[in-house]
Amino acid sequence: MIPKSQIDEIRQKSDIVAVVSEYVALKKSGRNFVGLCPFHSEKGASFTVSQEKQLFHCFGCGEGGNVFDFLMKIEDLSFAAAVAELGGRVGLAVEKSGITIGSKSDKDKLTEVLALAAKFYRHCLEGDAGKPARDYLTGRGISPETAITFGLGYAPNAWEELFKALIARGAAPALIEKAGLTLPREGRDGYFDRFRHRLMFPLFDPRGRVIAFSGRALDNVEPKYLNSPETPVYHKGSTIYGLNFARDEIKQAKTVILVEGNLDLLSLHQAGFRYSVAPLGTALTTEQCKLLARFTDSILLAYDTDTAGETAAERSAQLLRTLDLKVKVLDLPGVKDPDEFIRQKGAAAFGLAVESAVPYFEYRLKRIAQRHNVTEIEGRAKALREVSTLLGQERDQFVQGEYAKLAATLLGTDTGTVLAEIKRHGYYQTGRGKDLRRVTEKPASKVLEAEKKLIALSTQNVTALATIKRELQPDFFSGPEARAVATVLFNLEPTAGDLTHTLIEQLPAEAARNFLTQVLVTESVDQSAEVLNDCIGVIKAEHARQRVADLKTQLHAAEQAKDTDRAAALLAVLKAEIS
Ligand code: UTP
Ligand code: MN
Repeated sequence: MIPKSQIDEIRQKSDIVAVVSEYVALKKSGRNFVGLCPFHSEKGASFTVSQEKQLFHCFGCGEGGNVFDFLMKIEDLSFAAAVAELGGRVGLAVEKSGITIGSKSDKDKLTEVLALAAKFYRHCLEGDAGKPARDYLTGRGISPETAITFGLGYAPNAWEELFKALIARGAAPALIEKAGLTLPREGRDGYFDRFRHRLMFPLFDPRGRVIAFSGRALDNVEPKYLNSPETPVYHKGSTIYGLNFARDEIKQAKTVILVEGNLDLLSLHQAGFRYSVAPLGTALTTEQCKLLARFTDSILLAYDTDTAGETAAERSAQLLRTLDLKVKVLDLPGVKDPDEFIRQKGAAAFGLAVESAVPYFEYRLKRIAQRHNVTEIEGRAKALREVSTLLGQERDQFVQGEYAKLAATLLGTDTGTVLAEIKRHGYYQTGRGKDLRRVTEKPASKVLEAEKKLIALSTQNVTALATIKRELQPDFFSGPEARAVATVLFNLEPTAGDLTHTLIEQLPAEAARNFLTQVLVTESVDQSAEVLNDCIGVIKAEHARQRVADLKTQLHAAEQAKDTDRAAALLAVLKAEIS
């Protein structure tokens, strides 16, 4: 652990504007600096840095935090590593003794042993024993150069070759097991190698360190791919195969191709499509999507063409779209996957398929039209229902309208019919485009404004914070983020001075931190007692209104249930509340 005093000192000596400027071109704009967000792709400058507050916040993707958070995100560092990195830059070296970060962490030891294993497997691929794996690669059209680039290897057909090699290099047996490379023998001492007679794909983190392996069977053995278990350095759900090789190319191409298979990926890279990655066969996770969103907002799906691939593409597309990423789908007719496509039709043909990729909705609409017999009324009716469920997911009315036109053409009906059906079935309604439930749930903007002002004021003024604590409770705040911020704020030691960074460091959830940075970079703090009292009044009134509404609902329910005792009690409470 690094002492808090030292963390504070390093933060105070650094300037977030200078640190961010190493990665982002910033321009002065009013009180703040703005630039293009490095965490999502954008055209306008939503990324805002406040020198005064020493915070950043992106109004596009919502990310925010202090200088440590920025370094952690952009360099993919742990908190301790970010503190040490910054300490180095401002001339405050972090102690290297004891359990501080100077000593080799468990994670470092694991990545070291994994790197040794990768080297061992690579060596085996090149040696005599590796012939079956080399032949396999040749058969699949993977060149020796590609194999080298991706660090491919071969796990020999034996029980403890790797184990012995690692021990000889000084690795501890328990560490090797923890890295997921061996398994303990049952009923007796010792370990055996997890991967045997397999083509080995090292998996890397974005910075290029080996964190796990995926081993493909060379004959018809199950499972086809054997993967490392989760370890302290490997989390399957947040790893994307190939991202370390593709990250720069993705930024340049401003798009990324997602394929299902490791071998599809190798094929694509070899054919020059180096902005491709593979999500390791898993159904794409939110974490993986967010990771991709750091490099681009445009995703091309090139999944297998079988039903499983199509279902996976559908799920992935839905998830990617909830994160506001643009999704297109490649049409690869007559083949089973991108690998086969490239091998049969060549890289140029694949390039054409990329160029003519269609937006996800268009792809789905065409699939729906293909699946039903739209020359018959019943077929059209079924297709129309599927179409309306699909287009009901689109919140942008214009986009929805345009796709309704396309759907109408495909189904041989008119746009009005499609729109009417969406209105009946869809979740987000067309028409005035407002989902009433959502509107009423959202706190009145006046209340939200008051909450933001009070939060901003509290970080600057302990006397005001004391008043707020006396008058309000954290659950008076309306959104979950504001409530989380208020909870931590109400529990802080009331010390004089700026509470911003103490607060930031104690916020449990990222969403709450992002909310707070947004408030702090926008609100200019008004210290007047009048504003303070106004805001408290607005929040109290809203809280009372909510409570009355709640009581009325409960009363109504009790009356419906003919629970007269409860109804009477509720009525009494309600009367007291109103008077
Ligand atoms: P595929 O079966 O499509 O594999 O699974 P592939 O890479 O295209 O292999 P080939 O072309 O048939 O030789 C897609 C991905 O799902 C994961 C792997 O990451 C694989 O690349 N997978 C598949 C597993 O993790 N375990 C398995 O048993 C199978
Ligand atoms: Mn495949």
